[in-house]
Amino acid sequence: MAKPLSALKVTDHVYWVGAIDWALQDFHGYLTSRGTTYNAYLVMAEKITLIDTVKAPFKDEMLSRIASIADPSRISYIVSNHSEMDHSGCLPDVIRVVKPEKVFASVIGAKTLKEHFHTDDEITAVKDGETLSLGNMTLRFFETKMLHWPDSMFTYLPDESVLFSQDGFGMHLASSERFDDEVSDEILLYEAAKYYANILLPFSPIAAKTLHKFLQLNLSVDIIAPDHGPIWRKGVKRIIDLYLKWSARAASTKAVIVYDTMWQSTAKMAMAVAEGVTAGGAQAKVMPLSARHRSDIALEMLDASALVVGSPTINNTIFPTVADVLFYLRGLKPHNLIGAAFGSYGWSGEAVGIIESMLRDMKVELVQEGVRARHVPTDEDLTPCVSLGRNIAEKLRASMKSS
Ligand code: FEO
Repeated sequence: MAKPLSALKVTDHVYWVGAIDWALQDFHGYLTSRGTTYNAYLVMAEKITLIDTVKAPFKDEMLSRIASIADPSRISYIVSNHSEMDHSGCLPDVIRVVKPEKVFASVIGAKTLKEHFHTDDEITAVKDGETLSLGNMTLRFFETKMLHWPDSMFTYLPDESVLFSQDGFGMHLASSERFDDEVSDEILLYEAAKYYANILLPFSPIAAKTLHKFLQLNLSVDIIAPDHGPIWRKGVKRIIDLYLKWSARAASTKAVIVYDTMWQSTAKMAMAVAEGVTAGGAQAKVMPLSARHRSDIALEMLDASALVVGSPTINNTIFPTVADVLFYLRGLKPHNLIGAAFGSYGWSGEAVGIIESMLRDMKVELVQEGVRARHVPTDEDLTPCVSLGRNIAEKLRASMKSS
């Protein structure tokens, strides 16, 4: 009888056997409005090998897809490229079902899996560059520490030029289509960039180094098979080039103006700052936090070189949404930024100073003292906001010339 869920052929011997999570809307504070996939792959070599597993509640979906081409008990090896629970959550249960000869992970991955599951399952640690014979095929492992966890590694199948890249080159996108060339370009590029900005941005310097090291090996890669979203077959070079660009964080003339407002006073100031940025010859992206999620701000920061933040003072501090986004961005460590603060207040006016202190913590270079306006700003009060925008634009253009 035909199985209701099927494996999907990727190459002659590689099959996608993952799961589609159409419902996921939040991944650790990142708005995943298009859901996601947890990709797992079966290499149908003499020693059948499962590359990664899926989030625990999706175990049956994965096993069902595997069973559509091979009895799961025929699997000899399992490779865990990344121990985060969305890829390892069902690993202990799968080990019970499959009873593999061996389970492989990086040196740190082997320890991390133990710390996650506290079982007696033996995990064999593999080192950077080590190979594993599957009988008629071979796997080669590459340490990709901090891309994006210390345990992360790539697994490469030279026989079919497939790179299993765990979270690297992934995106949160649930779809019926499995390949990059089946998804619209607009969605593909948006979700790939959003994923990089929200997951990999803090590790950009390491990502750049790791990618250059991998590329220097000059290996043939026809397919990149990540752990989330579509499999890259048409756009392999394109996504690698995008990762090189994003990880380099080149200077730009884009300023992101993030604010929230109580009675539209700080909103008026934000508009005036944006006006100044544009009049000064740079690009302003205005992000009102009443309408924009923190993960959308992270995406905008991917190619920005300035962060200007506005908040009214409320109960002697900043607006909760502004605190939220600043803490989120601090973790993502966008570097090489200039910035400034602004905000309205009624009587005490602490918000601007608090924002400045948080921006300094993030190593944002403040271009000038923040701008404050009492209660509802007049046109006269807005003039310093326009000047602030112009100042930001001037500095951005100057840094483009010198870069
Ligand atoms: Fe998709 Fe780092 O887990």
